[in-house]
Amino acid sequence: MLYEIMILFSLDNHRIILEKQVIRITLGCFVDQNELKQAVAQAAVDYVLEKIEPDSIVGIGTGSTANCFIDLIAPHKHKFLATVASSEGSAERLKEHGIAVYELNTVSEVTVYVDGADEANPRLELVKGGGAALTREKIVTAVANEFVCIADESKWVEHLGKFPLPVEVIPMARSHVGRELVKLGGDPVWRDNVVTDNGNLIIDVHNFHPIGSACALEEKINQITGVVTNGLFALKPADVMFLATQNGIVKHYPAP
Ligand code: 5RP
Repeated sequence: MLYEIMILFSLDNHRIILEKQVIRITLGCFVDQNELKQAVAQAAVDYVLEKIEPDSIVGIGTGSTANCFIDLIAPHKHKFLATVASSEGSAERLKEHGIAVYELNTVSEVTVYVDGADEANPRLELVKGGGAALTREKIVTAVANEFVCIADESKWVEHLGKFPLPVEVIPMARSHVGRELVKLGGDPVWRDNVVTDNGNLIIDVHNFHPIGSACALEEKINQITGVVTNGLFALKPADVMFLATQNGIVKHYPAP
């Protein structure tokens, strides 16, 4: 939070002269990560309300930031037709709010999709999948007219890859995919005790940082037999991003 303080002082040849000076300082009014997530989710609700019509389908992502969005859009549920969800968990939360959740196969258009990210760069290329929902997230993104990414400032990076890259894998291909990921320079770690909503496994790949061409890496990993998809969202990045910072919400469009 910024405060403006007026002070009156000055010393000139030992004579005190009254002067006015305004100093802008940032006081330690730290907004915690949860408050940032709430704030950015509210910004996304305001944005989405401008876009939707009574027959609109809203795409809903997965994770703690997406959960904030669900809770904040709930009072406006009468302003759109229904939602599609990128995970069973989000579908459950939506239904608890009395919000209709449609199967993606039954809709031909998703007006807007709102989801969080584990990392985002200035091109709005993302790493996603910390919550193991990357495949369904990518599918809903593919259908949506617009992908709105929401995150707190801890997710903003110059180069992707510090967050281990999630890869969804068909169970019987786990070892093969692991070996192929090593050939690409990664350090794959099987995410223990996690089965995705699609019945598959997750491998988290460390040591890709800094990822040079996210598009090239996304394509290469997806070509490994047994990979369902990986958590890079670079071939189809976010269309717009709302980032919650200590100084307010910043709206980003993809840098060229
Ligand atoms: C789930 C995701 C989430 O969007 C990502 O993990 C961010 O989650 P959070 O909002 O809890 O930080 O990709 O698969």
